[in-house]
Amino acid sequence: MTIQFSTKNFPQADLQSAKHIKSGLKSLLAQSTDCLVLGYSKLDFESFAGNKNAKAKSGVLHELDALLGGSLTHAKLLGELEGVQGSTCLLKSGPTWSATAIKAKRVLLLNVGDQHDSSDMGLSAFAKVARGGLKTLSGGVIENAIWFAPSLSSTKSAQSIANEVRLTIQYAGDQAYRFGVRQPSMKFKAKDKADAFKHLIIASNDASAKEIKLAVEEGAALVEGMNLAKDLGNLPPNVCTPTYLGKTAQGLSKKTQLKVEVLGLKQIEALGMGSFLSVAKGSETPPQFIVMRHQGGKAGEAPIVLVGKGITFDTGGISLKPGEAMDEMKYDMCGAASVIGTMYATALMKLKKNVIGVIPTCENMPSGKATRPGDIVKSMSGQTIEILNTDAEGRLILCDALTYVERFKPKAVIDIATLTGACVIALGHVHSGLFSDDDNLVTALTKAGHDSLDTVWRLPLDAAYHEQLKSNFADVANIGGRPAGSVTAACFLSRFTEKYKWAHLDIAGTAWKSGAAKGATGRPVPLLVNFLLEQK
Ligand code: BES
Ligand code: MN
Ligand code: ZN
Repeated sequence: MTIQFSTKNFPQADLQSAKHIKSGLKSLLAQSTDCLVLGYSKLDFESFAGNKNAKAKSGVLHELDALLGGSLTHAKLLGELEGVQGSTCLLKSGPTWSATAIKAKRVLLLNVGDQHDSSDMGLSAFAKVARGGLKTLSGGVIENAIWFAPSLSSTKSAQSIANEVRLTIQYAGDQAYRFGVRQPSMKFKAKDKADAFKHLIIASNDASAKEIKLAVEEGAALVEGMNLAKDLGNLPPNVCTPTYLGKTAQGLSKKTQLKVEVLGLKQIEALGMGSFLSVAKGSETPPQFIVMRHQGGKAGEAPIVLVGKGITFDTGGISLKPGEAMDEMKYDMCGAASVIGTMYATALMKLKKNVIGVIPTCENMPSGKATRPGDIVKSMSGQTIEILNTDAEGRLILCDALTYVERFKPKAVIDIATLTGACVIALGHVHSGLFSDDDNLVTALTKAGHDSLDTVWRLPLDAAYHEQLKSNFADVANIGGRPAGSVTAACFLSRFTEKYKWAHLDIAGTAWKSGAAKGATGRPVPLLVNFLLEQK
């Protein structure tokens, strides 16, 4: 645990109703905390600055200024308290905070812009404000804070308060994450140290207490899932092997209600997964096939199935990759990591739905036993595949998993894979690629991405692209040439998904960051968790 989240309710604290401002502020300031975080609007600021045009007289900054002995007036004079959305102002206790009833050591004011006025503040605007606030809290001496969520919230709608709180927690978790801090066995660098900021208390009032409590629980579970996904993505490929992924999944079944089954080589062979096995063949380390079940819904209820690509290292095989940045191919199991992370979060939230996570995992290595370009293999579906490039291996392991999951009679199947470099070229590091013929699934995933700021962009799957996958010698070729490389990869997968509703997420550009901040992002766990939460 690197950061802890909890809630505290202040029944009467409503900083938008004149009657309750003073008592509300007093009850918040009376808490012993390193920092009390409050939002204020453009209107609040204008009113405080004495602007005659201010439509309503909102007294929150006046009242706070009075309680803090003129601290706000002083900050405004110094130009530290501003009218611009996203600006932050950190007030520190001093001789003017003489009232014994004030126990907060600092007050952090966040300008949330227009929101108390009329229009909804967009979620990305909120995110910017929240990020600014969280950044101020971290990296210094502040160890804990009380974040009064209703004062930052754009609307009264329970749904948007919940989204904002979940996002705040998601960002706080993101900020607190350090590789190797959570488990000593993962420590590879002596100087890695946890952030001093360790405890975020989200405060509510009676109008929002129920929604906020739930959102904090969901957010905290999401952070656990993201942390796990990041740890797995960041671990070196000599540690994070297929066996390690299987053990990690099994470990979760001891901490939660998850039921986990790990199939080994013999069982994979017995299932007839010739395509999956053709990738694993070149490696000394055995493949594993992981099945994780969360039975939160009724026994007969059709499950949502998540399938994650688990290539723990992708050398390209005989179609060997160039050496530059090849280390990054340790992240080629981020689809698997996001499935394990999402299943963990789902179990921690005790989600009342049936969800199954399935992971084919192996290494893609060159060797005397490795698959050659030109080899033809038989997939579990019976379709034969001409392997023209051994570096297009993700689709080869996924297609057999996609056939395997037919047995669950799924409500929908979503596969998640760092599948193509072409997707990085098409969408960069902003959106994950989304492919599906099911408009409802597209709508739901797009909304979940929007709500968690873990966004997707739809790309096509038209029949015309299937032309590129024709083979003279087998039912299908495993590559379709350079044009529309992510589309033909998705088209390949679609041939194995005819029995159910299906969507494919290409996360090659979003699952990790390169450069100085190199590391796993935990995406698309927020997207998947939000998607599952919103399933009816
Ligand atoms: N794991 C890679 C895709 C990838 C590339 C992910 C760069 C992240 C960053 C995948 O297995 C692969 O090698 N794909 C090939 C397909 C090609 C041979 C048709 C690619 O994208 O070049
Ligand atoms: Mn590859
Ligand atoms: Zn790969």
